[in-house]
Amino acid sequence: MHNAVIAASILSADMSKLGENTRNVLAAGADFIHVDVMDNHYVPNLTFGPIVVKALRNFGIKAPLDVHLMIEPVDRIIPEFAEAGADYITFHPEASENIDHTLNLIHQCKCKSGLVFNPSTSLDILEDVLDKIDIVLLMSVNPGFSGQSFIESVFDKLKYAREIIDKSKHDIRLEIDGGVKVDNIRKIAEAGADTFVAGSAIFGADDYKSTIKMMREQIALANN
Ligand code: DX5
Ligand code: ZN
Repeated sequence: MHNAVIAASILSADMSKLGENTRNVLAAGADFIHVDVMDNHYVPNLTFGPIVVKALRNFGIKAPLDVHLMIEPVDRIIPEFAEAGADYITFHPEASENIDHTLNLIHQCKCKSGLVFNPSTSLDILEDVLDKIDIVLLMSVNPGFSGQSFIESVFDKLKYAREIIDKSKHDIRLEIDGGVKVDNIRKIAEAGADTFVAGSAIFGADDYKSTIKMMREQIALANN
């Protein structure tokens, strides 16, 4: 199992202070920055393009940028996100015309690749792509907005994804996204996640540092 990673989702940042908020959340202990890219087509919300990723890099952000594409089509803009400074690029399989092609494209662009499964999307195709992905992202809310509640049925799905990954012996992270809080992160870790996206739980807190510290303490309890 990989070391635990906390990926702060800047969807919940103060957009008028995006650079500062991002720098501060990293100084407070976040490992990755999670960038939710929405197109008002695949999901009913509109957020960041490659210029925002580039702006964060120009601002001096060095941490891994975990770009979660909630857009359709996906392929056209992948090279632009890579060029702008993305490290991970994940997409929803139903938004791609050819999943293999999109995964290959992400690797050709020298980024790590991953598939994102909505709460009601089955993991059937996962076994067919295990040799082509670096991360599996399970949504624990329906994509589009921050601040929703964790959907409980995803605990079993996490356990199942963990089994598939472990059996495969491939080096793949298991990421969870949506409704992750200090009070449920231990149970999420116990179900098998190693990469934890948190938006409102961190950016909505008065003290990023103590929130991230409490999250890590809870994760450590799960690993004992
Ligand atoms: C939702 C996004 C999430 C969102 C999570 O579509 O993919 O990354 O920022 O926000 P919280 O942690 O507030 O549920
Ligand atoms: Zn996300």
